[in-house]
Amino acid sequence: MFPIEDFSGVKTPFYYYDMKLLGETLAAIKKSLASRPSYKVHYALKANANGAILDEIAGVGFGADCVSGGEVRAALDAGIPAEKVVFAGVGKTDDEIRLGLENGIACFNVESIPELEVINELACEMGKKAPVAFRVNPNIDAHTHKYITTGTSENKFGIPMTQIGEVISLAQTLGNVEIKGLHFHIGSQLTDMTPYAMLAETVNRMLDEWEAKGVTFPTINVGGGLGIDYNDPDGNPIPDFEGYFKMFDAIKLRDGQELHFELGRSVVAQCGSLITRVIYVKQGVNRKFAIVDAGFTDLIRPALYQAHHNIENLTAENDAPVDVYDVVGPICESTDCFARDEKLAEVKRGDLLALRSAGAYGQIMASQYNLRELPASFYDLPGEKN
Ligand code: LLP
Repeated sequence: MFPIEDFSGVKTPFYYYDMKLLGETLAAIKKSLASRPSYKVHYALKANANGAILDEIAGVGFGADCVSGGEVRAALDAGIPAEKVVFAGVGKTDDEIRLGLENGIACFNVESIPELEVINELACEMGKKAPVAFRVNPNIDAHTHKYITTGTSENKFGIPMTQIGEVISLAQTLGNVEIKGLHFHIGSQLTDMTPYAMLAETVNRMLDEWEAKGVTFPTINVGGGLGIDYNDPDGNPIPDFEGYFKMFDAIKLRDGQELHFELGRSVVAQCGSLITRVIYVKQGVNRKFAIVDAGFTDLIRPALYQAHHNIENLTAENDAPVDVYDVVGPICESTDCFARDEKLAEVKRGDLLALRSAGAYGQIMASQYNLRELPASFYDLPGEKN
């Protein structure tokens, strides 16, 4: 699967993207959407905004879910039309709101009363009407890592269910906002679909309730969160999109109403791997360390969320004996550890290792701590090295 002969002249560490798999993943999503014309996907740029990846995603016609002015610009630069760009986040600055208004984006997903008031004010100054959706915090536990759960009342995200009436009433009195919809996102890397069933029920209840009060919403946005199989990337390279969309078929959409999805990880995670070189193999008292040239500056998920990415020795022969290693990076922090007790085909200095399923929240979360260089990207398309 890895064109390792092509890797020989490439400086490590780098991200390798399997563009063929990305294409197949996008095709699987399109296939499920074909029978559901009111379902629209806005790709969550936060997962990966690498230019080549974004171009591919823009090419299939998805919209963009953005959380900063930088992401709004990147989406527009990739050719995603403004009317398919939505802008979320608890702390949008005035400049970022102006940028969205100037470009005529589809929607601001509003997370608080003060934000709604500022959007109205800025839109008024600019002589515009801002399209807004309200991000509802439905208090549903997504049963995922506590750092990536977002939909319970303990989280900073969204407007509590108890305040949503007040916010909608306020919006109705403001002259420069237009109510476009309701927005939800309960968390990321969900491997159990039950929370989505609960979300669908909540949406149905809210639609009935607000319809009775004469308020209709052109769009309902249920966020992202579909998980991927980090344990078996080769066995499950493409997530179960059909099963995922099916959970939302329970929502009783009204005539002309659209259902929006903000998929990030499930679109790009499996197509990316972080390729790193072993610098030293060091024998400790009780443990053997494979010290590699990538660190948490290149892939922070293990250090930040105790995430595990499968690791493969790409250089070892098939019949190489297996040994057990702690795979660690060069950064001066104990959390700079990709895996403990990892079984790997015997590792030698100079071997290339692949950290799998790293296409989402990998390269985009890289930093320059310790004044390290940012990792480069390499694609499986001929001539596409940088
Ligand atoms: N929509 C909203 C409002 C979000 O906050 C997120 C992710 C998404 C959509 C996309 O969710 P996805 O389909 O990718 O699960 N850095 C963490 C994940 C943080 C997710 C933040 N929000 C990680 O590496 O696991």
